[in-house]
Amino acid sequence: MPTPLTRNLTVNGHHRRVTVPDDTERLLYVLREQCDQRGPRFGCGVAQCGACTVLVNGEVTRSCVTDLNAVPEGAAIRTLDGIGSEARPHPLQRAFVTEQAGQCAFCVNAMIMGSLGWIESRIAEGNRAVPSRKEIADYLSGALPESTFNYLCRCGTHTRIVEAIHSGATEMVK
Ligand code: FES
Ligand code: FES
Repeated sequence: MPTPLTRNLTVNGHHRRVTVPDDTERLLYVLREQCDQRGPRFGCGVAQCGACTVLVNGEVTRSCVTDLNAVPEGAAIRTLDGIGSEARPHPLQRAFVTEQAGQCAFCVNAMIMGSLGWIESRIAEGNRAVPSRKEIADYLSGALPESTFNYLCRCGTHTRIVEAIHSGATEMVK
C-alpha cells in the first residue's frame, strides 16, 4: 500500500514543499517534476553512472535510487541548476566550458556535482591542496576511499574532464 508523503526541502536556497502519493518516489523525479530542476538527469537508474547526482546536506547523492522518505525533512539540496549562472558560473562550470570537457555533455551533471561535493568536503576538512590529476581520475573511477561512487562518460572525454576539474578545483581552493 503506497504511503503519501510531504516534505519541506530547500532546493538551491529556495523553499519547496513537495508531496508524493508514494513515499518511495525517487528524489530525481521530485526534483525534475516538482522543483523545475533540469541539471540532474536519468541515465542508468541504478546508481552506476552519476547523471542524477545532487548534494543533500552536502552529501553526494544518487537521486535516481534515493527514495523521498530517505531525504530528511528540511534537507538542503543543491543541483547543477543552482551552483552558478550564465553571468556568474561556478569555477567548475567555467572550467568545463574553457576545456570543452564534453562531447554530448550528458555526463556533465555527474562530473560537476560529484567533484563539487568532493572538493567542498576536502576544503571543509581543511585540505586546500589542489587534487592531482591522478587523484581526480581515481575519484571519478571510484578508487579513492572517499569516492562513494564512480562516474561514467559514454563519449570518452575523461582526459578533458579531469583537466576541467583540476582547473576548477584550483580556483575553488584559492
Ligand atoms: S541515473 Fe543515477 S546513477 Fe545513473
Ligand atoms: S560527454 Fe557524452 S557522456 Fe560524457
